[in-house]
Amino acid sequence: MPKKRLLRQMSPTTLLTLLSLVTPTAATYRLLDLYNSTNFFSSFTFFTSPDPTHGFVTYLSATEASARALAGYSQDGIYLGVDYTNVTNSTTGGRASVRVTSQKSYTRGLLLADITHMPTTLEAYSGCGLWPAYWTFGPDWPNSGEIDILEGVNSADTNSVTLHTSKGCTISNSGSLSGTTLVRADCTGSEGCSQQTSLDGTYGRGFNDAGGGVYAVEWTEEFIKVWFFPRDHDLTPSLTGNPPEEAPDPEEFGTPLAAFVTDTSSSANCSIESHFKEHQIVFDTTFCGDWAGEAWGDDEACSGLAEKCEDFVGEVPEAFEEAYWIVMSVSVWEKEE
Ligand SMILES: *[C@@H]1O[C@H](CO)[C@@H](O)[C@H](O)[C@H]1NC(C)=O
Ligand SMILES: *[C@@H]1O[C@H](CO)[C@@H](O)[C@H](O)[C@H]1NC(C)=O
Ligand SMILES: *[C@@H]1O[C@H](CO)[C@@H](O)[C@H](O)[C@H]1NC(C)=O
Ligand SMILES: *[C@@H]1O[C@H](CO)[C@@H](O)[C@H](O)[C@H]1NC(C)=O
Repeated sequence: MPKKRLLRQMSPTTLLTLLSLVTPTAATYRLLDLYNSTNFFSSFTFFTSPDPTHGFVTYLSATEASARALAGYSQDGIYLGVDYTNVTNSTTGGRASVRVTSQKSYTRGLLLADITHMPTTLEAYSGCGLWPAYWTFGPDWPNSGEIDILEGVNSADTNSVTLHTSKGCTISNSGSLSGTTLVRADCTGSEGCSQQTSLDGTYGRGFNDAGGGVYAVEWTEEFIKVWFFPRDHDLTPSLTGNPPEEAPDPEEFGTPLAAFVTDTSSSANCSIESHFKEHQIVFDTTFCGDWAGEAWGDDEACSGLAEKCEDFVGEVPEAFEEAYWIVMSVSVWEKEE
């Protein structure tokens, strides 16, 4: 488009915004994509294959999920739920649920998700059987990496943040919030490098009771950092506009909940550039499987409910009435050149 015409179409505020971008105090990120209730379901695809993590789940297509009211809109947000009425077993198949993946993929940048509700069980069931996740991953797993931003299983009440890569990526969590512990430094394979957070309200019932909040991920050539801003945090309003009025500035975010960095003094060495690329964004809710199922027997709150995770999940549908996501928006920002 010719420059003159472009300028003529701009409102004074657009021009002001443009000018402010070239000043030294300019924000370093600009909006690339915003997903909200106006475009979410045309931008995310429903995954309908068997769960690669062997969950006791049946992922529905968009048509099926919509017909059974497991995907749609609620409270101005995007609702992604599970079946909480039908009894099921190994013959009839895993509990119906949804897993959605962004069609677009991204390398580096800033990713914000405003989430008001995440999957939990009814309180009496302590989260047992559930394995919800908000995450990103690249092609040819694990060669392009995976970032698990918000994830946990069973009676967990704080978030676990994890990276998965091919061989040769070891990280340090120096710079993470105190109280966040590095469970494993080697990011290789399905175990990955995990950080267990200890902050209340980052996961499950505590997250929902406080109205959720914003998860922010900054992914650069040097590091991957994850922040959580609870609903009542001072910065939250500036991150939740639809779209936010000003570009967010991670320099103002404070200490991350989980920082994944290279720190040669601790022999942590990871080329983020070669291990992470072209990530799609995913929300899902699965049950049991490689993590929640494996951990069932060691979880005191859960193992008392049934001998096996699948028995509980299949036989007690009403436990999962609150096992839904409400996502207000997801925005992707790229660094100014
Ligand atoms: C429960 O099962 C019935 C019968 O198969 C089916 O029609 C219905 O859609 C199911 N409900 C959900 C929420 O999946
Ligand atoms: C699963 O449930 C179906 C329908 O209720 C029943 O016919 C079948 O025998 C059950 N299978 C098992 C393994 O319990
Ligand atoms: C969704 O985002 C668009 C801008 O891309 C905005 O115009 C619209 O108001 C937003 N919708 C809601 C429900 O916030
Ligand atoms: C870190 O890993 C890269 C690539 O694997 C390697 O070239 C480099 O020498 C390593 N650096 C240190 C300090 O170990």
